[in-house]
This record gives sequence, structure tokens and C-alpha cells, in this order.
Amino acid sequence: MNVPVITIDGPSGSGKSELCKQLSKKLNWNFLQSGLLYRILALHVLKNQHCIKKNINILLKSLNFFEIINKNISNKENSNSNILNVINKEEIGNFASKLASFSYVRKYLLIKQKMFRQFPGLVADGRDMGTIVFPDACMKFFLQASLKVRTKRRLLDLQNTTKINFDQLLIIMKERDYRDINRSISPLFPSKDSIIIDSTYMNMSQVLDICIKHITTLKNVT
Ligand code: DC
Repeated sequence: MNVPVITIDGPSGSGKSELCKQLSKKLNWNFLQSGLLYRILALHVLKNQHCIKKNINILLKSLNFFEIINKNISNKENSNSNILNVINKEEIGNFASKLASFSYVRKYLLIKQKMFRQFPGLVADGRDMGTIVFPDACMKFFLQASLKVRTKRRLLDLQNTTKINFDQLLIIMKERDYRDINRSISPLFPSKDSIIIDSTYMNMSQVLDICIKHITTLKNVT
């Protein structure tokens, strides 16, 4: 039997990562926040100043994404040295979005992402989870919210690590959305079979309730 997957796609600040974590906890499944792979690569490229294609390829192959993510998730959440706190910064997200438009980066990370599909199931969030990485997912969600609300949420998320104001962040997020939606390979868009949820006026527990109601209709999952 194929390992069941539930996908959550959407732009930055739509609430997909938190939803992914909470759903996986509820179901007792594994989770994949695919943006972390792009962010880890971005951090290493910036650190090593690898700017030519050949070197990014070497770097990509040397990174053990699975180990980096698992090691840091199990570490203390608030440690400054925790790579997950470092890569949460908006400049890393923005650079990750730039790297994400290269087809050879996506091709390589596609294989890595599929490796997270392990029993008893996987909840995966990102931009192309339902369209490209796990097109056979048993349920697909697409989260949306207004740019202003998403910016407010990201600002709260960044308050301890980044000095940036609302207007500056709104511009950066708008640019990132544009890049992620308009790139030629694996752009962000809801697949035809996805359930679209607008979380502009909802909190996380309301979104979670909606998703769980949908999931309980699935056979062999709950
Ligand atoms: O979800 P996030 O903000 O951590 O993702 C950071 C960037 O990585 C995002 O702007 C685009 C890229 N990304 C992608 O292209 N495809 C994914 N499945 C996940 C992230």
C-alpha cells in the first residue's frame, strides 16, 4: 500500500507550516515543511558564496537534509544556534525563493522530498506539494489569506530575530509571492483537486477544525 500523504500548499504567512505540524501531531504522522530544504540550501549557498551552477550542485549533493531537519527539530526550539531559527529569517526565505526557480535545484530536491514519505503517513507543506511532489496525495489543501494579514503574521513570527517594519516586509512578501507564482517550473497554484481555505479571518484552530472535518471523510486514515 502507498504511504498516505496530505498536502498543504500556499503562500508565505498563510498558516500552512503551523497547520502541517498540528495535523501531523493529530494524526500521528510524519511531517515535511518543504520550504526548509530550500532555506537550508540558501543558507549554505550564502555561507559558502557558491554562485556558479557547478558549485551549487556539489553543495546540494553534500547536504543531508533529512539529518539536518531531524536533528534541529529534536533540539531545544529556542536555541540561537538552532539552524531552524537562523533560516527562518526573511532574507533567507527570499533567497530560497530565488534558488527555487532553478530547475536543477527543484529536480534534485524533488527526490529528497519524496524520501520523507514514510509510514504511517505524511503531512507535507510547501508550494508544489499537491501539484508536483505528491500529485497522488489522498487530500490536498490550499491555504490563502490577504497579503496584509499574512504580512502581520510573518511580522509576529520575525519579531525576535529581524528588525523590519510592516511596510518593508509587505513589499518583500509581495515580491516573493510574485516570484513563486510566476516562475516557469513548479509555480505556486492550487491543483484542481485541492480544497481551498481562506484563512484571512480565521485563527489556526478554526482552520485545523475545517481540515479535520475533511480528513474524517477519508477511508483508512482516521
Ligand atoms: O515555505 P517557506 O516560506 O519556508 O519557503 C521558502 C521559499 O522556498 C519559498 O518562497 C519558495 C521556496 N519553496 C518552493 O519553491 N517550493 C516549495 N515546495 C517550498 C518552498
